[in-house]
Amino acid sequence: MPKIIIAIDGYSSCGKSTTAKAVAARMGYGYIDTGAMYRAVSLFFIQQHVALTNPKEVAAALDQIHITFNFNPRIGRNETCLNGLNVEEEIRKMYISNYVSEVSAIPEVRWAMVAQQQKMARRRGVVMDGRDIGTKVFPDAEVKVFMSADTAVRAFRRQRELLEKGELVDIEDITANIEKRDRIDTSRAESPLIQAPDAVPLDTTHMTIEEQIDWVVALADRRI
Ligand code: C5P
Repeated sequence: MPKIIIAIDGYSSCGKSTTAKAVAARMGYGYIDTGAMYRAVSLFFIQQHVALTNPKEVAAALDQIHITFNFNPRIGRNETCLNGLNVEEEIRKMYISNYVSEVSAIPEVRWAMVAQQQKMARRRGVVMDGRDIGTKVFPDAEVKVFMSADTAVRAFRRQRELLEKGELVDIEDITANIEKRDRIDTSRAESPLIQAPDAVPLDTTHMTIEEQIDWVVALADRRI
């Protein structure tokens, strides 16, 4: 059977990653969380006090960043590593969520990440989730999904997810973060978040994760 690329784009906290991960497992495909890459870059920039407005500092920092996804057999999934160090837990925290959209709007950051993402999936057989996968990273992806959901539902899901990881954040702060990220992600000059003309929209407001997974797998089955 030919291997394809499944691109899942959309707004923050619509269930993209959870769905993409499960679809990849079901299909025996690889999974690449591109948001984790921008989060890892943000963590590095914070640690190294990189001035986002200084292109030289940004370029020098990007040269020192090596991001990998290492499989952890104990939990049965990939963990994001920054220069060999497991940063999976750290990059999910709110202070990173509050910074990442500014970092990911920098064109040089995007060019570096997009080049790596294209390399990672050059053999296809991959589910990739993010904001620009169907428009920029793989405009030739066989399957493109564009996810959205009501902001209140997204905020609630995000709060529950953070709580499961031990971080209690007010729903107002989460809502503000989601809205801020949506605003920056959709309005940046370099590959903004936008639905590709050939993407299939999926509103997950009233869907369970299982339903979302079934929906994407059914769509992929029709395209193979
Ligand atoms: O997917 P996640 O919410 O973890 O992504 C974090 C942030 O990374 C997004 O809000 C967006 O600013 C950025 N991002 C991006 N392009 C991608 C994936 C994520 O700009 N392909």
